[in-house]
Amino acid sequence: MIDLKDKVIWITGASSGIGEALCVEFSKHNARLILSARREEELKRVASLINLPDLDIMILPFDLSDTKSASGLAAQIINKFGRIDMLINNGGYSQRAEAIDTPVEIDRQLMEVNYFSYVALTKAVLPYMKRQKYGHIIVISSIAGKFGFYLRSSYSAAKHALHGFFESLRLETEKFGIKTLIVCPGKIKTNVSLNAITASGLPHNKMDKSHENAMSSEECAKIIIKAILTNKEEVNIGGKEILMVKIKQYFPKLFRKLIRKQSPY
Ligand SMILES: NC(=O)c1ccc[n+]([C@@H]2O[C@H](COP(=O)([O-])OP(=O)(O)OC[C@H]3O[C@@H](n4cnc5c(N)ncnc54)[C@H](OP(=O)(O)O)[C@@H]3O)[C@@H](O)[C@H]2O)c1
Repeated sequence: MIDLKDKVIWITGASSGIGEALCVEFSKHNARLILSARREEELKRVASLINLPDLDIMILPFDLSDTKSASGLAAQIINKFGRIDMLINNGGYSQRAEAIDTPVEIDRQLMEVNYFSYVALTKAVLPYMKRQKYGHIIVISSIAGKFGFYLRSSYSAAKHALHGFFESLRLETEKFGIKTLIVCPGKIKTNVSLNAITASGLPHNKMDKSHENAMSSEECAKIIIKAILTNKEEVNIGGKEILMVKIKQYFPKLFRKLIRKQSPY
């Protein structure tokens, strides 16, 4: 069992939803936290909720699409804490648009934020983790990383890409004591549907029906932490929707029927 006390944990997407809930849960374990997202005021709000001493918390705002800043950001964390034990690649946004209507620029933006930023931040922390002979990379994918879905073409593509990259990385870096956990949430009640990008580039701005009564971000965060503590390599989290992952694997014909009947919202 891993002890989270004093672990230095960098969380992206810490200003809302699953990232915010993870900050709260990790603080209960007396971890040392670096909170990242674009909105500094929201990061400060989350920091005030968790009430860690200044020595144990850092607010590090940045835009995930600025992948070139990754190594400089990691260096700032090393300056303050001397090490980075965990990176939680969580920040990102979803999509609510048909592929036929979506300009390629939006497809690229979705890949940049939901895939390339995860790769860039991970590459920025790996040299420190290798030197420490310890590290844990946590990747928030989705069940959309397991199968394509209506209105999610590039979001789903980015999440699928995460599996290819991080499953390979896991094999290559475990010899350095570095672990990789891939998390596949189904429906979790956060602002994800409100912030999802549409074909016009504007946010969808609606709480989807399927998210209204979904699992809470607090419960999701607790399950993620349990998966970290027990060294899981992959975990699916959510309600009955996560059964679709197993149905696709074991009953592909049935899956093909069921997936067509799902509402995109
Ligand atoms: N909720 C679900 O049902 C669900 C299901 C499957 C997977 N997921 C995944 O879970 C992760 C967290 O999403 P959530 O559900 O917690 O949604 P959320 O409440 O909308 O939170 C998204 C977070 O990502 C940050 N973010 C978005 N774009 C960013 C950018 N360009 N640069 C920096 N930070 C950015 C946001 O902060 P700022 O706006 O302050 O930048 C916010 O903190 C995402 O990777 C999402 O794909 C969620």
